[in-house]
Amino acid sequence: MLQVKGVELRMIKDMTVDEYNRFRQSLETNSGIMLGEGKEYLVTSRLRRLMERESLMSVTDLLKAMERNRNLLENVVDAMTTNETLWFRDEHPYRIFRERLLPEAAANRRPLKIWSSACSTGQEPYSLSIEIEEYKRRNPGQLMAGERILATDISPSSLAAAKEGVYQQLAIRRGMNDQHLKSYFEQADADRWRIKQEIRNRVDFRPQNLKQSFSLLGKFDIIFCRNVLIYFSADLKADILKRMHASLNPGGYLMLGASEAMNNLGDYYEMVQCHPGIVYRAKKPGS
Ligand SMILES: C[S@@+](CC[C@H](N)C(=O)[O-])C[C@H]1O[C@@H](n2cnc3c(N)ncnc32)[C@H](O)[C@@H]1O
Repeated sequence: MLQVKGVELRMIKDMTVDEYNRFRQSLETNSGIMLGEGKEYLVTSRLRRLMERESLMSVTDLLKAMERNRNLLENVVDAMTTNETLWFRDEHPYRIFRERLLPEAAANRRPLKIWSSACSTGQEPYSLSIEIEEYKRRNPGQLMAGERILATDISPSSLAAAKEGVYQQLAIRRGMNDQHLKSYFEQADADRWRIKQEIRNRVDFRPQNLKQSFSLLGKFDIIFCRNVLIYFSADLKADILKRMHASLNPGGYLMLGASEAMNNLGDYYEMVQCHPGIVYRAKKPGS
């Protein structure tokens, strides 16, 4: 035990500025995630356990091991992601989805395809699925062509938790009201709730790094890309938004996070003001 602590202290003390810079370069290359200056504590606190387990004594050893071992690289990226999320986050996006996007989709009478592109532990895609379920209950006979939600994330541990769909009381209480809880969850044990199959069935989960091509994912009518672009450089953000445009059906919608804006992409998207809240609609190229 003491020895473990000894390793821990040595590792923290030993991280040089050069090691930190090489680590953040590697993280950005592999995931897009940018670490600012002076965030060494994030590396040590998030990777300490993994480094102990792998008997890696310094960040230089870690970087070398990441080059050799794809699995380790994935675990390092996983540990460095911020997976903060909640149910029906920010309310406006879900109101816009409920009051504007779902009625439009119902009028189109086509299958509706939605992509939750950084789904974390599943709160976003399941909130969307609950909205669809409620819409269908309120409007029987509408949305008959079927709806699918693809939920993706770079973090394997978040994706596994999302697939499992079981949440502790603490996580449930972040944005979930009693009526939704009663209707769409069953108690797994004293402190945990499981999402009901009817909500789960609409969602498919798969790994996807937003830095990599989306071409195998197909086309979507609505993309939720919320609270993830903030971690990326301006260039990567623009690149992702352009590739998302190519993944949207004509006139499809893109929903960003509350603090995220789109710059210089007026050729690709038009802003739709929904009072309150904003959604972006894909423009036809050249229009
Ligand atoms: C703060 S959470 C946001 C979750 C949800 N969209 C929301 O708004 O509540 C950010 C998520 O982005 C994921 N992420 C970070 N970099 C990514 C990348 N390059 N590709 C895909 N997902 C990424 C993280 O794993 C994390 O689950």
